[in-house]
Amino acid sequence: MKSNLLICAIESSCDDTSAAVLKGRQVLSNIVADQKVHQKYGGVVPELASRAHQKHIVPVVDQALKEAGVLRSDLDAIAYTKGPGLMGSLLVGASFARGMAISCGIPAIGIHHMRAHILAHFIEDAHPAPPEFPFLCLTVSGGHTQLVQVNAERDMKLIGQTLDDAAGEAFDKAAKMLGLPYPGGPQLDKRASEGDPGSFSFAKPRIDGLDMSFSGLKTSILYFLQKMEREQEDFIATHLNDLCASIQKTIVDILIEKTHKAAEQTGITQIAVAGGVSANSALRQRLTEMSSKKGWQIYIPPLAYCTDNAAMIGICAALDAEAGHPAEDGSVSARSTF
Ligand code: KG4
Ligand code: ZN
Repeated sequence: MKSNLLICAIESSCDDTSAAVLKGRQVLSNIVADQKVHQKYGGVVPELASRAHQKHIVPVVDQALKEAGVLRSDLDAIAYTKGPGLMGSLLVGASFARGMAISCGIPAIGIHHMRAHILAHFIEDAHPAPPEFPFLCLTVSGGHTQLVQVNAERDMKLIGQTLDDAAGEAFDKAAKMLGLPYPGGPQLDKRASEGDPGSFSFAKPRIDGLDMSFSGLKTSILYFLQKMEREQEDFIATHLNDLCASIQKTIVDILIEKTHKAAEQTGITQIAVAGGVSANSALRQRLTEMSSKKGWQIYIPPLAYCTDNAAMIGICAALDAEAGHPAEDGSVSARSTF
């Protein structure tokens, strides 16, 4: 396949419908439609997500093409997320992408969602210069928490991951217990900036190696809040900011500890971060501190390339084309490894 392709990319793995147009590594448009419908349920409802994708996908793709100033007939390929993700959501994007590819007479390319989060660092305007191989990537979102050693674009080794909840899920569930609206991560972050992170301490799980766990923390926060509310009815309301700061510190401590261990074990000090939780101010601050203390070189792309977006799907197809890999469609799968 020729390089510098004009690619339309589609991402629909969870609750954001996104379409982007890329010319090689350059993003010409990157549109995201989020789904407010889940807010009142306090979490993503899979069946509602796939219905909302069906509603959004045509206008979102249309807007991406218009904003890029590109006609369907100009495109060289359509890339889409093949997994992991919610099955119904993935099928909407994949079916649409394949249908559009057939109608345009161009290939449909299935892309792995987690690989895309990592390779988003290679989008032309993500950084002044992308990380060099090998680097470590901490991918922290509402669905995933992974530490990956990235040796090359197609040589990635999963060296650590959560054994249960994702870090974003821990933020969202803790925020829900505190009565904050969904998704609670950003709300908890905002409140934390007004609180004292040393006010309360929560036990951190002891997990061997580079794996992590957040579900025990969730339970200990719940029991602690129930106990304190029995003693003082308005405990949460009167200590909200301090609770947010203390919970945030505990989650960020776990992420930083494991990233530190990974850097020590591998000797790699280029640390890239991906996923929605990379917006967290305490995580950013701690990474900056580690950069001056340990000499880490930190890569955090603009938020639009951290949260779920189609530009990251497009860059994978663009890099594969650059490297001369054939366009592969592949099968859609809710759980797929690298
Ligand atoms: O990558 P993302 O947009 O979607 C996926 O889950 O794939 O990540 C969303 C997650 C949510 O759990 C949200 O609460 C969390 O990222 N998040 C944050 C912050 N901003 C987003 N968590 C903590 N602090 C933030 N500032
Ligand atoms: Zn994601």
